[in-house]
Amino acid sequence: MKHFITLADLPNFEQTLDLAMDLKKNPKQSNGLGKGKTLGMLFFNPSLRTRLSTQKAAQNLGLPTMVMNFSQESWALEFEDGTKMSGLRSEHVKEAANVVSQYCDMVAIRAFASLSDKEKDEAEIVLRSFTKYASIPIINMESATAHPLQALADAITIEEFKPNHKPKVVLSWAPHPKALPHAVGNSFTQMMKNMAADFVIAHPEGYSLNPKITEGIECTTDQEKALEDADFVYTKNWCSYDYYGQILRTDDQWMITPEKMQLTNSGKFMHCLPIRRNIVAADGVLDSPNSLVIQQSQNRIYSAQAVLKQLLENG
Ligand code: CP
Repeated sequence: MKHFITLADLPNFEQTLDLAMDLKKNPKQSNGLGKGKTLGMLFFNPSLRTRLSTQKAAQNLGLPTMVMNFSQESWALEFEDGTKMSGLRSEHVKEAANVVSQYCDMVAIRAFASLSDKEKDEAEIVLRSFTKYASIPIINMESATAHPLQALADAITIEEFKPNHKPKVVLSWAPHPKALPHAVGNSFTQMMKNMAADFVIAHPEGYSLNPKITEGIECTTDQEKALEDADFVYTKNWCSYDYYGQILRTDDQWMITPEKMQLTNSGKFMHCLPIRRNIVAADGVLDSPNSLVIQQSQNRIYSAQAVLKQLLENG
């Protein structure tokens, strides 16, 4: 694996899942692997879980980290080639990515979607520019279209809590007052293609994800029907993909409630966090013993550790 931009970069999904679960049993088993190396972590957007879990994962591998809130602390970057840089952007990514490569042995980057320009978001300009101009591996800590470290943590969680039968997993859209990106929904869908499960996506009219990503997946606009007999309910908001970046509805009809969870097979509730209580899901869902949101957050350590370990072993 040269870079980790999407789950497709993993040399083997199942082996990575096994590795993450094994690291969870003994997190310090490869504590000398990061000795003498440095992980750079650049945040163009805020984070709680990704920042701390990735640092913890690096610590477990004996890998020192250097963290920068790039959008607040560094120079504004120019990403266009051939531009006359007379505006507010003081440094070109060509130099910045090369400079970061002088200090770090790999660099993890968080850069969300703009949600104003679909073409630019899908081009993943920030991550792809660093991939082009840095000489070290790039790790995706949530980009415009993907959040693979989250999806890998979600796979660990499903594996840990799956029933004896083939599980039914539902990804359900939920309301949110802000327009949110598709990254989590996309990566969760890509991850589920690797799992032995019946997988259904439920969303209101106008909220289909990118059809290239959902190809071959059952999608429905009937949330209650989808929830019937579900073993896992993964909830997430995303803005409209067709009417890119728009919020088409704000009512709470699609909020996950204890009554809706009654339709499931004692289903486990999942969300990547942060979550807006009583907007996305009711208190009674989040505070129920069937909520796995904290376990998912804990598993972020081991998903990051499994990825970092493989990159370190590549040399
Ligand atoms: N789930 C997740 O990525 O959380 P943060 O945005 O807090 O990192």
